[in-house]
Amino acid sequence: MITVDLKRTNKIISEHQLEKALSLAGTAKEQIANRTCKGSEWLGWQTILETPNDAELDEIASHATRIREEADIFIVCGIGGSYTGAMAVIQALNPVFKNNGPEILFAGHHMGSKYLKELLEYIDEEDEHGNKKSVYVNVISKSGSTLETALAFRFIRHWMHKTYDDATDRIIATTGKEGGVLNKIVEEEGYKKYIIPDDVGGRFSVLTPVGLLPVAVAGIDIQTLFYGAVSQYKLTEEDPQQTLLYAATRYVLHQKKYAIDVLSTFEPGLNGMIAWMQQLLGESEGKEGKGLYPASAGYSTDLHSIGQLIQDGQRNILETMIEVRSPVAALKVPEAKELDSDSLGYLAGKSMHEINKSAQEGTAEAHEDGGVPVLKIVLDRLNAQHLGELIYFYEYLTAVYVTMLDVNPFNQPGVESYKQAMYRLLGKD
Ligand code: PA5
Repeated sequence: MITVDLKRTNKIISEHQLEKALSLAGTAKEQIANRTCKGSEWLGWQTILETPNDAELDEIASHATRIREEADIFIVCGIGGSYTGAMAVIQALNPVFKNNGPEILFAGHHMGSKYLKELLEYIDEEDEHGNKKSVYVNVISKSGSTLETALAFRFIRHWMHKTYDDATDRIIATTGKEGGVLNKIVEEEGYKKYIIPDDVGGRFSVLTPVGLLPVAVAGIDIQTLFYGAVSQYKLTEEDPQQTLLYAATRYVLHQKKYAIDVLSTFEPGLNGMIAWMQQLLGESEGKEGKGLYPASAGYSTDLHSIGQLIQDGQRNILETMIEVRSPVAALKVPEAKELDSDSLGYLAGKSMHEINKSAQEGTAEAHEDGGVPVLKIVLDRLNAQHLGELIYFYEYLTAVYVTMLDVNPFNQPGVESYKQAMYRLLGKD
């Protein structure tokens, strides 16, 4: 279950301000429900949960099982909404230092030459017995024409066809139903294709094959993840109050000219989720001169860097802390008298979870005292069910809050500007 805790915003937001914003949030909710909101043709991220496609979930899960049996490496080639969700879920749920199945690599999410060159060298390495690695690639692009992804895929596809006789079976494309260069390549080459529904935009697509296939290949139970989101969808349909309150609070702070929302967590496994939320919020709300800049902070690491600015810098910052209530791992501080020379005897026997929690509570208190409203989103546990819930919670929150700003949450017209300038410099027709 997801819980919203807004008590550390009370000093800054009056009851009257919140009531007014809540009524606006209610209107936004109605506009989404009756499909009169801006961008209402893009509400497929709700439809997929309303009528789950179990056959597709099963197909993806069994395809992933086959890949897991055969692959040493699985490359996810995509950018923006075509990779952040999968990266976030895998980072949150998989072991930190070992692979739970094939090694998952990411490509096509930037144009750094060192990274791509070393990736190609790495997949080309043979093991100690002189055997080639077994590599699969999933190229993901809704438009099928994003340069970063297309370029990396060109390198990887070339390597795959040069290396394997069965390259066609090792390349999987996830793209829109029709159109786009990627669809042309798929038709010519006969690659397996998964379809991204027309009415689901990139950053809202983690629960389509975009996120589900990589997540399943990583060994995560996609049925549980998906149905976690379904349960949050149903809960929100019955009682949206928590989401509306959060949207209303964010809205009031936006109106009060707060400019930056620091999305933070004390659980390093959630850093990827923070990156996913950052894209979801930023690309959805940052239009027409509006929007809060969604910054990210991984604590307590970043308390020793940007913590100073959050505590004491310009007072235009709010903070959203993502908390996991239950311990993520059992680990206690060793109790041994001979170790007490490190002056940490007072912590002996305490769990790392308890210590991290104290750091979190202390930080929230200090930030509130420093004039930073702190909004808290709490997950009971770090597992597939609750991550599914968190995903839908944030998708819906984004839709409601951005609709309150009278902005279309689902497009990204501003992204075209850099592309046009880049293509002109590259001499593209
Ligand atoms: O949210 C979005 O629509 C974008 O961030 C896209 O996901 C990103 O630009 C990648 O686009 P595509 O999947 O078409 O390659």
